[in-house]
Amino acid sequence: MAGPLPIGDPAPLDGSLPEQASMGSDSRTFHAYVHIPFCRVRCGYCDFNTYTANELEGVSQASFADRLIQEIKFSSSVLHNSNVHARKLTSIFFGGGTPTQLAAADLVGILAVLRDAFGFAEGCEITTEANPDNVDLAYLNELFEGGFNRVSFGMQSAVPQVLATLERTHKPENVAKAVAAAKTAGLQTSVDLIYGAPGESLEQWRESLEEAISLDTDHISAYALIVEDGTKLARQIRVGDLPEVDEDLQADKYELADELLGAAGFSWYEISNWSKTPANASAHNLSYWLGQDWWGYGPGAHSHIGGVRWWNVKHPSAYSGRTTHLQSPAAGRETLTESVRREERVLLEIRIREGISVEALKAVSADAAKIIAGLIADEMVDPKSALAGNLVLTLKGRLLADFIVRQFLA
Ligand SMILES: C[S@@+](CC[C@H](N)C(=O)[O-])C[C@H]1O[C@@H](n2cnc3c(N)ncnc32)[C@H](O)[C@@H]1O
Ligand code: SF4
Repeated sequence: MAGPLPIGDPAPLDGSLPEQASMGSDSRTFHAYVHIPFCRVRCGYCDFNTYTANELEGVSQASFADRLIQEIKFSSSVLHNSNVHARKLTSIFFGGGTPTQLAAADLVGILAVLRDAFGFAEGCEITTEANPDNVDLAYLNELFEGGFNRVSFGMQSAVPQVLATLERTHKPENVAKAVAAAKTAGLQTSVDLIYGAPGESLEQWRESLEEAISLDTDHISAYALIVEDGTKLARQIRVGDLPEVDEDLQADKYELADELLGAAGFSWYEISNWSKTPANASAHNLSYWLGQDWWGYGPGAHSHIGGVRWWNVKHPSAYSGRTTHLQSPAAGRETLTESVRREERVLLEIRIREGISVEALKAVSADAAKIIAGLIADEMVDPKSALAGNLVLTLKGRLLADFIVRQFLA
């Protein structure tokens, strides 16, 4: 979602998909991502496709749900006309931006249209991201009554000084209130943390982890801060107003996260994600890592159906124009070759606890056996799983995942 859109091939305005999209679709699950591109203020580190009220060029937040509903109806006929196997939705994720900038009734209304269009599979996971500042019990009750079962709060840190560096506007105590309200409403809960804000000490990171653990959520994500080009944070670091992110300290922070979360009963299931039980792992995120099918609704959203990938126009105003005229909002698309799909599988599956099969690694690298032997010797992968045919990263391996991927894809 971050950064400029890829170039790709032109996408037809009627949305029709190439034949490859339908191939094998009965063996894949189907998921929906709904992008709500609004935030009250922009945090200094964030380059997600999101807009504050004065950047919207006349787009109405109040009627934005109608535009998304238009795309949902459009997608249902595109999939049908392109002979993609009809499947119920296995997970739905409302992300942003800040989905909770919209009225709860809007989110529930969009969900109802998704249900009418595709149906929900048994146990369908339905999540919204939320900013701890703009939800209360009444709002969360409305979401639960309308079918949502999970909420993920942007906590980032428990330390006021770190929140200020990140330009977060919420008060630390609002996170506990929001999580408590979500539990009262009956929702599963998750919080996002960020480690590595300039100037954040290891002790401050420990404080954030301990506070997040004390909230007793079902799930915690801990992301290493990415200094994105073009953000205010990147400028502040460039001109010397803030110190650079210290990479060695980042590794210590990851190790501390794994230690404290593990001791509190959380298990990692993806490099940046820990859950209380396997059932609390995010089914939606796993669908991305496992290369399933998903339709991404909204400005700048990406979709993937059977190796065909496309992305929508970025600005809400361009998106509104396309959907109002019943045209595909896609800005471009690409059809992945088998060899690119094999490489992407390595990039994504190596990150998850189930690991990636040695067969899949041999399909991308003639040196796979030699590389794996080296990784076992360097204690970066679990030797038992590797011998049983699956590569699973150790803690040391998780810290060096990018380096490991580069060896297989060299
Ligand atoms: C769309 S936001 C979550 C919902 C809501 N907008 C909020 O921030 O409270 C998704 C998450 O992405 C993560 N994120 C955004 N920009 C990031 C960056 N530059 N580096 C690391 N994580 C980032 C944050 O943890 C954030 O909670
Ligand atoms: S509130 Fe969330 S989406 Fe909005 S700018 Fe901040 S991190 Fe990005």
